[in-house]
Amino acid sequence: MRMYDLIMKKRNGEALTKTEIEYMISEYVAGNIPDYQMSAFLMAVYFRGMTEEETLAMTMAVAHSGDMVDLSGIEGKKVDKHSTGGVGDKTSLVIAPIVAACGAKVAKMSGRGLGHTGGTVDKLESIPGMRTSLTQEEFFSVVNKTGLSIIGQSGNLAPADKKLYALRDVTATVDNISLIAVSIMSKKLAAGNDCILLDVKTGSGAFMKTVEDSVALAKEMVTIGENAGKRTVALITNMDIPLGNNIGNSLEVIEAVETLNGHGPADFTEVCLNLAANMLYLAGMGEVEICRKMAEKAITDGSALKRLAAMVEAQGGDASFILDTGKFARAPYAYEVLAQRSGYIASMNTESCGIASSMLGAGRETKESEIDFSAGITIKKKMGDYVEKGEVLAIMYTSKEELFEAAAKRYQEAVIITDEKPAEEPLIYARVTKDAVEKLY
Ligand code: URA
Repeated sequence: MRMYDLIMKKRNGEALTKTEIEYMISEYVAGNIPDYQMSAFLMAVYFRGMTEEETLAMTMAVAHSGDMVDLSGIEGKKVDKHSTGGVGDKTSLVIAPIVAACGAKVAKMSGRGLGHTGGTVDKLESIPGMRTSLTQEEFFSVVNKTGLSIIGQSGNLAPADKKLYALRDVTATVDNISLIAVSIMSKKLAAGNDCILLDVKTGSGAFMKTVEDSVALAKEMVTIGENAGKRTVALITNMDIPLGNNIGNSLEVIEAVETLNGHGPADFTEVCLNLAANMLYLAGMGEVEICRKMAEKAITDGSALKRLAAMVEAQGGDASFILDTGKFARAPYAYEVLAQRSGYIASMNTESCGIASSMLGAGRETKESEIDFSAGITIKKKMGDYVEKGEVLAIMYTSKEELFEAAAKRYQEAVIITDEKPAEEPLIYARVTKDAVEKLY
């Protein structure tokens, strides 16, 4: 077999066989296919697309390029959740404990912040002592004991994706739905869970800016998951506005705890309940409506909060911070961002809100940067709210006072105030299963 022939086949719009795809991925990871040939192939895929069979074969080949995690040492149904990334997206910190409190298991590998989006692992590390790097034995033991564990990606998971992603990043082939689906689902399949809930974010703070593209991506990913023998569902959720009111690591942990205490922001609580209900549905706990009631009860009876505290303690963290979030160190500097005119908040460029938080120290400027865990933004006014000139739009926090000016400018520019009240946007647009796309608004 020759890579040259495979590139030509795809260039001419033909479908590759499973054997050809397996050859291409294994030889690429082995270093026998150079980046320039793989780049040509990726560009051919960008223009010609891939069939359902090709997409599945490529996902499986990429997943099998490294470790396939075996979670059989954990009792019960293991259900995973993947978010395509957003701003203020601290859902994992709320839904994993809810799902565990309701009897399913969450053995989750999460990521760090990337670009304008935050990462669950960074958020957890704002809790003193918290370890997000565990041995497999420790990971299984925490899940068996507490029902959940969230750790950083460990082992050699889908190394082909690492190479392919780096190449796509510099060859203008990231934004192809099939290639994104392969990339995400290969890592999910390698992580070894029984079922997968996908939270596909849509809007100005998301990878996918339109609902149509988000639904197309969700359909491809659900099809791959189901064809690989995993129950898979996707929700298309709004990322045109930051989720909840807090952006930044310890600020997001505090908001997650408030939500588990029943006092979270309405938008964030609603999204969490929907995600948790669908995870429980996938784990076989009943119809979605029944599962939602179970999720609500896990908040009101305090059982989910107890699970979060138990996981933190089992991973070496100081659980007293969960029971009393007043213990989190506050940033030494706070700055109010004021409305420059009166009117309605017509839109918020969510990506820019995430960047502003990162500029305050909540994200990394370089790979080596240290995160300022207390840095971030508390939003006081959101899309649709009326503000008077001079009213507080948001409060910014940082440990370095000199960072305010540029971050505040970025935030001011992200928030558009007009005389017209904007139309309300749905929080959840659709639920995608293997059989249907259910519109939820
Ligand atoms: N996230 C991934 O893991 N891969 C992509 O290609 C895009 C988003």
